[in-house]
Amino acid sequence: MRISGKRVIITGASSGIGRALAVSLAEKGAVLTIAARRYDRLEDIAGEIAAQFPDTPAPVAVQCDVTIADDVSTLIGGTVERLGSVDMLINNAGISIYGETRLTRAEDFRSVMSVNFFGAVQCMLEVLPFMRRQDSGLIVNIASVAGLHGIPFLGAYSASKAALIATSQSLRTELAGSGIRVMIVYPGYTDTEIFEREVMVGGGKRPSAGYAPVDEVAEAIVHAIERGSRDLIMTRRGKILSILRGAAPAIVERAMRKIASELRDPDEPRRDPGES
Ligand SMILES: NC(=O)c1ccc[n+]([C@@H]2O[C@H](COP(=O)([O-])OP(=O)(O)OC[C@H]3O[C@@H](n4cnc5c(N)ncnc54)[C@H](OP(=O)(O)O)[C@@H]3O)[C@@H](O)[C@H]2O)c1
Repeated sequence: MRISGKRVIITGASSGIGRALAVSLAEKGAVLTIAARRYDRLEDIAGEIAAQFPDTPAPVAVQCDVTIADDVSTLIGGTVERLGSVDMLINNAGISIYGETRLTRAEDFRSVMSVNFFGAVQCMLEVLPFMRRQDSGLIVNIASVAGLHGIPFLGAYSASKAALIATSQSLRTELAGSGIRVMIVYPGYTDTEIFEREVMVGGGKRPSAGYAPVDEVAEAIVHAIERGSRDLIMTRRGKILSILRGAAPAIVERAMRKIASELRDPDEPRRDPGES
């Protein structure tokens, strides 16, 4: 796919992978609408991109909480009104919750599902009528390696990404031949703010190393978009997991138990964002 001139909406563009994707796509000439809840940040990012790439139309910042249906309607409807349609939707907004599943509250499950799954679904349902009208479009869903298999201490997060993967696969099959494609991205651990803002439910600590630089992750995603990839599994471990989970589930189970015993920490307390 040639990115130059494509009308692209990115959710969760105020930091991390979303922000880095905005920069990478702007460099290729995409006409961007960047969305998130922190509007000040979006405005700063739009300004930086406009200064860095003066030949590309400046990104438009839209405040949008993907868990609020009216916000999503305004995001998609407003972009269509301004630009005529949408060529690419990148569902990137996401939050994380970490710790033992038995300590995870029902409200924690609901909050991670409401952003990572229902937020993405809401955006897809809003954008698809416009893509259908033009018989073309690309939906890029930022899932996770953690959606390939339930990962220890990521019970709620893994569930939200597995749900997103399943729905993306259903949609992809249903849309075959329509001109609309669905690409699923499975990043591994990436160095972003998500870990500063997540709820830590307790009972386990995060791995201390192995976090990919965010710019490398964004560049790999942009290359995959250009190549027309269906799936992008981003780490060696993720690729091995995707093969072994079907072929040798007992090996995967043993590896997961090893991770669980390495990261188990009964002294790790519950911490909600805002608490230090
Ligand atoms: N970092 C990793 O290791 C990793 C690994 C695999 C997959 N991922 C996925 O990659 C995506 C981006 O995460 P990141 O690591 O770049 O984290 P990040 O830096 O925290 O970015 C998350 C983005 O989502 C936005 N967001 C959160 N809740 C939202 C809501 N209700 N409505 C709209 N926007 C919302 C945040 O902006 P506001 O707070 O301003 O709304 C922010 O822009 C997520 O889907 C995440 O699950 C990350």
